[in-house]
Amino acid sequence: MPTLLVTGAAGFIGSNFVRMLIGRCEPVKLVAFDKLTYAGNLANLKDLLESAGKDRLVFVKGDICDADAVSRVFDEHKVTQVIHFAAESHVDRSILGSGPFIQTNVVGTQVLLDVAKAKGVERFLQVGTDEVYGTLPEDKPEEKFTEQTPLAPNSPYSASKAAADCLVRSYFHTFHLPVLITRCSNNYGPYHFPEKLIPLFVTNLMEGKKVPLYGDGLNVRDWLYVEDHCEALWAVLNKGTPGEVYNIGGNNEITNRKITEVILTEMGADWDKSVQYVKDRPGHDRRYAIDAAKIKRELGWEPKRRFEEAIKTTIQWYRDHEHWWRAIKSGEYLKYYETQYAGR
Ligand SMILES: NC(=O)c1ccc[n+]([C@@H]2O[C@H](COP(=O)([O-])OP(=O)(O)OC[C@H]3O[C@@H](n4cnc5c(N)ncnc54)[C@H](O)[C@@H]3O)[C@@H](O)[C@H]2O)c1
Repeated sequence: MPTLLVTGAAGFIGSNFVRMLIGRCEPVKLVAFDKLTYAGNLANLKDLLESAGKDRLVFVKGDICDADAVSRVFDEHKVTQVIHFAAESHVDRSILGSGPFIQTNVVGTQVLLDVAKAKGVERFLQVGTDEVYGTLPEDKPEEKFTEQTPLAPNSPYSASKAAADCLVRSYFHTFHLPVLITRCSNNYGPYHFPEKLIPLFVTNLMEGKKVPLYGDGLNVRDWLYVEDHCEALWAVLNKGTPGEVYNIGGNNEITNRKITEVILTEMGADWDKSVQYVKDRPGHDRRYAIDAAKIKRELGWEPKRRFEEAIKTTIQWYRDHEHWWRAIKSGEYLKYYETQYAGR
């Protein structure tokens, strides 16, 4: 049975990925490795750690930038494969300060690659983002990001992720490390940290607060339900061709204004009383859209969930898990929120 190191397993997508594999009883041992930064939350894995058994899932607290700690976890658990989620992931925070993004997303990825090379892993999947491609024109809806689109990152976050992708690619060409790279659009679903648009808006409304909408609200993102992303990652890990890049997307372009309308309607809130337009994010990319034809053609993956239904499931999850997000929306989070939206 392979042993899969899951970096960033206590975050949003990493924990959903672990949950999916445990739920399906996939024949793999999972080693969840996470530094537990502000975004990492052991509560996301607690029930799984209690129920799965140590032969199926273990948690190790550690930093991917710490080569000794990473090397130890490979040896102790006889790691054979890696799926690399761990990252600083929030664009707004990268604008407030890019240092931690370079450290974790670039240096951390390099450390992980070196250890994976030294130990001779069978697969190394770099979980990437469509934001590395930059922005698309609004008036050319036929234009989408393909795997051939040149990298043109516009935020410190996307620049650090692009640098990581380039490093991963170089370890394939130079050292023949069997790497795979995915680039996915915006995810939504359970366990999403409530600084990101959908969980922020839903939980603000539940708290009786306004929702901060950037600029004119017409930035376009392609939204994909997190479990669809996790299924795509599992397909790439098992069936992808080493050295290849796979775009992952929902074929579901929506403006931030439309997302806001959907959330307000679902939660019975009024636009004028609930929406506060705030000064736009500096360098805000206007439009992302993914051409996911390659992964469909080569690996048979396509999204299964329709946005209209999955957004309702997501909102209901936040209604049912108030204790989860209220515990996060205190302390450090409040300081960040005040810094981020002060004077906007
Ligand atoms: N959320 C999205 O919509 C989206 C879309 C495409 C790609 N991605 C990528 O997917 C990955 C996961 O995203 P997410 O939204 O789950 O992020 P997240 O911020 O929710 O989780 C990141 C996790 O990484 C951990 N981590 C951070 N620094 C670490 C370090 N130095 N060592 C070990 N662990 C560390 C954190 O504690 C946290 O648990 C990221 O690489 C991100 O770039 C995210």
